[in-house]
Parts: sequence; C-alpha cells; structure tokens
Amino acid sequence: MISCGNLSRVFIILGVFLTTVYTQDVCVKKGPCTCEFPNGTGIDLTPSAKSPYFSTQIYKLENNGTRLALSTFYYHPCNDVVLPINTSAASFTTCKDSLALCWYISFMDLLNTTKDTFKKDGGNYQYLGTSNSSDFTADGKSIIYPNVPSSTVVMLICATTEDQLEVYSLADQSRIVLAFYSKEACLKQIEEPGRSLGSTLLIIFFSFVILYLVLGICTKKFLMGATGLEVIPNLAFWSDLPNLVKDGWAFAINGFKLPNRGPGPVTSPDPNSYDSI
Ligand SMILES: *[C@@H]1O[C@H](CO)[C@@H](O)[C@H](O)[C@H]1NC(C)=O
Ligand SMILES: *[C@@H]1O[C@H](CO)[C@@H](O)[C@H](O)[C@H]1NC(C)=O
Ligand SMILES: *[C@@H]1O[C@H](CO)[C@@H](O)[C@H](O)[C@H]1NC(C)=O
Ligand SMILES: *[C@@H]1O[C@H](CO)[C@@H](O)[C@H](O)[C@H]1NC(C)=O
Ligand SMILES: *[C@@H]1O[C@H](CO)[C@@H](O)[C@H](O)[C@H]1NC(C)=O
Repeated sequence: MISCGNLSRVFIILGVFLTTVYTQDVCVKKGPCTCEFPNGTGIDLTPSAKSPYFSTQIYKLENNGTRLALSTFYYHPCNDVVLPINTSAASFTTCKDSLALCWYISFMDLLNTTKDTFKKDGGNYQYLGTSNSSDFTADGKSIIYPNVPSSTVVMLICATTEDQLEVYSLADQSRIVLAFYSKEACLKQIEEPGRSLGSTLLIIFFSFVILYLVLGICTKKFLMGATGLEVIPNLAFWSDLPNLVKDGWAFAINGFKLPNRGPGPVTSPDPNSYDSI
C-alpha cells in the first residue's frame, strides 16, 4: 500500500520534473522546416525551399584502394519533391516518388592499377526520408529524418554563405549526418513572445491547488481518520464554490456593487465557509 508520505513525495518529484521540463527550452516543431522556442524565436527554412533541391557529392576509397564509392545526396528542406534524375541505368531505385532525402551510391572498381582504369556501375538510389516524418532536435539545431531502422541527421548551420549541403559523416551508414549551411538556419524571431504571464500564473495556481488537495486529503485521512467525502479539505468551502462563483458573477454584472442580499434571487453563501479556509 502507498503511504501518504510517499504519495506527497511523488507529487513533489513530479512537480520538480514538470518545472524542469517546462523551463528547459524546446524548439517545438511548427512545420516540416519550422520550429519555435517559447520566447518566439526559432528556425524557419521556408525561404530556402525555393530551390528545386540541394545536392552534394563525396568520394571514398574502399577495399584497399581498389574501389571508389561515389555518394550523392539530394535534399529538399521543407516539402517533398520528385527529383529530376535519370534512374534507368541504376540497378535499383527507391527515389522515384516525391521525397525529402535521397542517397545515390555508385561504385567504381579498379580494373588495372597500372593504367588506373575503373569500371563504373549504374549505382542505386536509396530513399532516406520524407518531410512529413521529420523531427527537430530539442535545441533546434538539427532535423532528423527517420527511415526505420536508420535515420539521417541534417545539421542546420547558421552561415552567411549561399545555401549549401555537405556531408558531415558517413562513418555510420545507419546514421548519416549531413550539414546544411544557410542564413535561414540562424535563430530568428518567428512569433511574438509565446506563453503569456497569465497562463504562467494559471499553471502555478493549479499546481498549488493540486498540492494543497493532496496534502489536505492525506492529513485528513491519516491524521484525523476521515472517510469518504470527508477526506476533501475544507469540504464546506468546495461545496459552496458554485454559489461563490455565482455571487462573483452577480457582483460583476451589477457593476461591482454589492448585490441586494436577503429577499433577492441570489442565494447568499454561508458566511462561515469563508472562515473555514
Ligand atoms: C530565445 O530562447 C532561445 C532558446 O533558449 C535562446 O537561445 C535565445 O537566445 C532566446 N532569444 C531571446 C531574444 O531571448
Ligand atoms: C588490404 O591489404 C592488406 C595488406 O596489403 C591485406 O592484408 C588485406 O587482406 C587487404 N584487404 C582487402 C579487403 O583486400
Ligand atoms: C537515361 O540514361 C539512359 C542510359 O544511361 C539513356 O539511354 C537515356 O537516354 C537517359 N534518359 C534521359 C531522359 O536522359
Ligand atoms: C594493365 O595494363 C598494362 C599496361 O597497359 C598491361 O600490360 C596489363 O596486362 C594490364 N593488366 C591487366 C590485369 O589487365
Ligand atoms: C504528408 O502530409 C501532407 C499534409 O498533411 C499529406 O497531404 C501527404 O499525403 C503526406 N504524405 C505522406 C507521404 O504521408
């Protein structure tokens, strides 16, 4: 059985956890290439999406220098595109449909070391990701494109150069890392500052109400041996709350003048309920 002390402890830990989560700024995804921090700043790559696509190439020597691997990456940041590629020579392709990321890999095998002649294969096109399933990292500095069981990371690097795609790491083929250099990758103001003071106060207020209820129920149940509905602290106050709210409204509607008590239609609450808080 859970003791009351443990229950309170759980709630306090939960409270601390939630506070930490909400104070740690997370760039929340607003679209395939937009994310926003609570203060209204964020990343928006939309202007970069005007280009048809971005591409970059990298060569790698394999098999003791007897094989050259040529990789080309095609990327479009904000929405899926159909790539203008000729796939007829490729041995296979999964890049025919519209997508956000495609990897073309072809091998050139050394035929004769003395003549330096290579035989190139048609290569193949591999689908790597779509804009729909992309996700920002919490710091807003990368977009992850999952392609289970692999994924591709596109690092967003704030730069004043022309928009440019580069390969950052091919070391782990199940987690290829690309780098996208762009001035659109810089932090900028996206919206007016987010969460208002009012909603912050509301969150704090309700946290206190819950803590108060839990501690109150525990105290009444275990120290005072209350049962059933009696465990709720200040039961009289809570059951009178609808009347209090009604009174409050009447007060406001009357132009902040005290309502006519007594024979009036407004049922006045038991004044003792205030004292019991
Ligand atoms: C907004 O929040 C982000 C993330 O915490 C921070 O890097 C940035 O400097 C803040 N910008 C302003 C104007 O406060
Ligand atoms: C690469 O070369 C080394 C030494 O010349 C040899 O021991 C090894 O088996 C070679 N590996 C491959 C994949 O050819
Ligand atoms: C595609 O490539 C094949 C062979 O590599 C070639 O015959 C064909 O004409 C190309 N098609 C286009 C539209 O370029
Ligand atoms: C490689 O090229 C050299 C020079 O043309 C030739 O003598 C040799 O036979 C070739 N080797 C093979 C394995 O084709
Ligand atoms: C991606 O999302 C758009 C808009 O929500 C939808 O129309 C489209 O079908 C989705 N594409 C895929 C491949 O799920």
